[in-house]
Amino acid sequence: MTTEAHEASTTTPAQTPAHPTAPGSEWWRSAVIYQIYPRSFADANGDGIGDLPGMTARIPALADLGVDAIWLSPFMPSPQKDAGYDVADYTDVDPLFGTLDDLDDLVTSAHRHHIRVIIDLVPNHTSDRHRWFREALAAGAGSPERARYIFRDGRGPNGDEAPNNWESVFGGPAWTRTTDPDGAPGQWYLHLFDSSQPDLDWRNPWVREQFRGILRFWLDRGVDGFRVDVAHGMVKAEGLPDHHPAPGGGSMGGDEATAPFWAQDGVHEIYRDWHGILTEYDGDRVLCAEAWVTPLPRLARWVRPDEMQQAFNFEYLETPWDAAALRRVVDESLAAFGAVGAPSTWVLSNHDVVRHASRLALTAENPQGHGIGPLSPGQPVRELGLRRARAATALMLALPGGAYLYQGEELGLPEVIELPDDARQDPTWFRTGGERYGRDGCRVPLPWEADSPAAGFNDTGASWLPQPADWPELARDRQDGVDGSTLELYKHALRLRAGHRLGTGDLVWLEGGAEGIIAFRNGDVTVIANTGEGTVSLPEPFAGAELLLASAPVEPGVLPGDSTVWLRV
Ligand code: GLC
Ligand code: CA
Repeated sequence: MTTEAHEASTTTPAQTPAHPTAPGSEWWRSAVIYQIYPRSFADANGDGIGDLPGMTARIPALADLGVDAIWLSPFMPSPQKDAGYDVADYTDVDPLFGTLDDLDDLVTSAHRHHIRVIIDLVPNHTSDRHRWFREALAAGAGSPERARYIFRDGRGPNGDEAPNNWESVFGGPAWTRTTDPDGAPGQWYLHLFDSSQPDLDWRNPWVREQFRGILRFWLDRGVDGFRVDVAHGMVKAEGLPDHHPAPGGGSMGGDEATAPFWAQDGVHEIYRDWHGILTEYDGDRVLCAEAWVTPLPRLARWVRPDEMQQAFNFEYLETPWDAAALRRVVDESLAAFGAVGAPSTWVLSNHDVVRHASRLALTAENPQGHGIGPLSPGQPVRELGLRRARAATALMLALPGGAYLYQGEELGLPEVIELPDDARQDPTWFRTGGERYGRDGCRVPLPWEADSPAAGFNDTGASWLPQPADWPELARDRQDGVDGSTLELYKHALRLRAGHRLGTGDLVWLEGGAEGIIAFRNGDVTVIANTGEGTVSLPEPFAGAELLLASAPVEPGVLPGDSTVWLRV
């Protein structure tokens, strides 16, 4: 293998933008951010649902893992129709998860451990239990209260056809008809997600003003930033025209490129406004976009210098375990984000997709948020999935930029495929009459201690989704300090990543490997991944190099299939 830097004829090495590396200065450019899904992380009061005191108690475990920040999925008051992504009050804590004091304790404890705290902001829609929506229903057509949301009269002679043909991401129509106080059928309201999640009208200045206050409320409490839910959907095309999706669709409710409800230009002025609010605060606060937008240069608009700091790189998440495809997406990511001066992010799992320890071994098409269950085609082989997941993570954590981890991936947790039908809770499952399994399989409560009730999730054994029988074997205490465990692989990788400053490094491709090999140098670390099945020999000088990290057991000089190594040459 030769470094591309020596070969003038090949493409230029990918460059990350120059940036300060002082601690506390734009920390997010290289941060490893760990996603906590509150209801499934740790349950202190034993009711079967994770909570804030549970998180606080487990902060030392996350410090030990070596992450820089946590992102909490929503914990605000909510009827929990979409696991908290249906917010009924933006400035409080749902009693299910604790109190505002508990949140303060969590932030204090995390900060004491040098872990920053990012919370989830859900601005595209509220819960239908939110006071704003109750008032809108009560106030009637044409009122200022209704103008907070997207109410329209129906089509057809009796107004009994939806105002347009848009479909909900969770299946079924994106419109629901209301009933007037006198019992007569009324107007329709738009919900890109569940019918219990009415979309706000972001063209309305009143809505914008409310959210300025919400941002300030949490910034004043000391949170380090926000992950912004559905940051590509907040503004809809003028006139709400029918959508004629291109065949094939996309990952988030269809064709992101042309849908009149995704990636409308109007969203950007909202983020510029929020950017300004964040800069009123000290400490490098951050906004991270959940924007299912393609291609990458288009997504990069979300992270222009005066907008958000980060955007999830879902294109990376969706890339198969294939050397050529991975190299392409890394190149495109560094180029697209670099062009606007932003770091790329990298992510393999979250609470909306099939866990990568299963996804990477699926032989059927990646179902993304539609999930997998017992009857899905292309069932993954467990060992292969874990092996690839470890290799994929080792590759990801060596890339320059920010990285997102999803709780439980450090234990190598697979997607739980065999959940009983009557345990499923995702609205996707209900709205499609069980045709799509949905996302419950990646949301099963974590195993902490093998010999405790609910594998240490709490001390009562209760669990809002049933844990599989083999969960205890994967528990943190079974992996902690155990050579070769997935937990130790993550810890080791994160220590090395920090020590060698890989997050703020520059990537230089190495050429000349066998097919299925992807190799690069980042600072003094050389990373080689074998996405093929067969063992390959490493050419000099790599054969004799010092081994820093290996995702699988390796013999000197060779790299087995589906594995990644970090070397110091
Ligand atoms: C985002 C969340 C997802 C939620 C949806 C609606 O995509 O990640 O969990 O269901 O928004 O709020
Ligand atoms: Ca609880």
